[in-house]
Amino acid sequence: MDKSSLDPALGEQLKKLQQKYAVMGQDLSSYLDGLLYSDYLTYWDYIHLDTLLSLQNPKTQFPDEKVFIIYHQITELYFNLILWEIEQIADHKNLSEKFFTERLDRIIRYFQLLENSFAVMVDGLEKEQFLKFRMSLLPSSGFQSAQYRLIEICSTDLSNLVHVEFRDKLKNKSDIAQQVEFLYWRSGATELASGKKTLTLQQFEQKYLKLFTETSSKYQDRNLRKLYSTHFPESKSVIEKLREFDQLSNVLWPLAHMRSAARYLHRDPEDIKATGGTNWQKYLPPRFQRIMFFPELWTDQEKSEWGKAAVMKALYPERAS
Ligand code: HEM
Repeated sequence: MDKSSLDPALGEQLKKLQQKYAVMGQDLSSYLDGLLYSDYLTYWDYIHLDTLLSLQNPKTQFPDEKVFIIYHQITELYFNLILWEIEQIADHKNLSEKFFTERLDRIIRYFQLLENSFAVMVDGLEKEQFLKFRMSLLPSSGFQSAQYRLIEICSTDLSNLVHVEFRDKLKNKSDIAQQVEFLYWRSGATELASGKKTLTLQQFEQKYLKLFTETSSKYQDRNLRKLYSTHFPESKSVIEKLREFDQLSNVLWPLAHMRSAARYLHRDPEDIKATGGTNWQKYLPPRFQRIMFFPELWTDQEKSEWGKAAVMKALYPERAS
């Protein structure tokens, strides 16, 4: 072929491009000029690496604070991926079992990675450094992770997120305002001494409560629990995956997280100061919170022993198999 003549396949592509741009009333030739002058895309621009690496701003001189910040950021990115998958399930116009289970597999994978990497916090910080730099971060706390709360809201009916003491007492299960009032984490974040709302909670509510209420309304009829129970209530593979997700999200990740509190905060009241103010030993354990996204998928015994098997496995791995 004459080197100066246009490859017919390329000509075909140009024709298609011309049609595409013509539909929008655009002149392809101007866009081709643009292509001629524009730079090649680089990896670092594509993923905004410079911006990403400018987002770690320790408040103290302790080197381990950077580890603490980055691990929180990594977790928030995974939370974002989990929400992204849930959103795609909820927005799907023609939800199939295949799509539902494949996206659940992804969510499970993200949570497993988070659970398995928590050693970065549990073993990867010097306690002396942690207890000092943590004081400079008050009253902020991971408790204020809005994405964590959104994952909960999009996964189940709000009534399952009400504090365990009020769960049976709230009569009208579709009264969102009332259920938001009694969400478990709002009841949990009370000051040790006075019983007042912690500042950590007050600030969190001020910033996000409206979003949580709106999201609760939006997901009232399309949270994961509603969707599986209307579309695939009998599917064994869906049920198996939902149980795995429930366990990871409400027992295994919380226990991995709690190990970090146990390592750094112990029982010393001075250490407890380095938190958002909850009595975490009473608040964090899954067996006290009793949060289940899909309670109907667990037997009465499994529910009454919520979190127990995982704790036993962590304490006595040799007995678990
Ligand atoms: C050394 C590491 C950590 C320690 C000692 C720790 C400690 C605590 C404590 C004591 C609480 C109870 C609330 C409070 O009083 O502040 C809490 C809640 C929480 N933290 Fe952490 N945390 C650590 C790392 C993380 C990380 C990496 C994340 C990831 C985003 C995280 C997310 C959360 C969430 C979502 C809650 C609320 C849990 C719930 O309401 O059930 N934490 N944390």
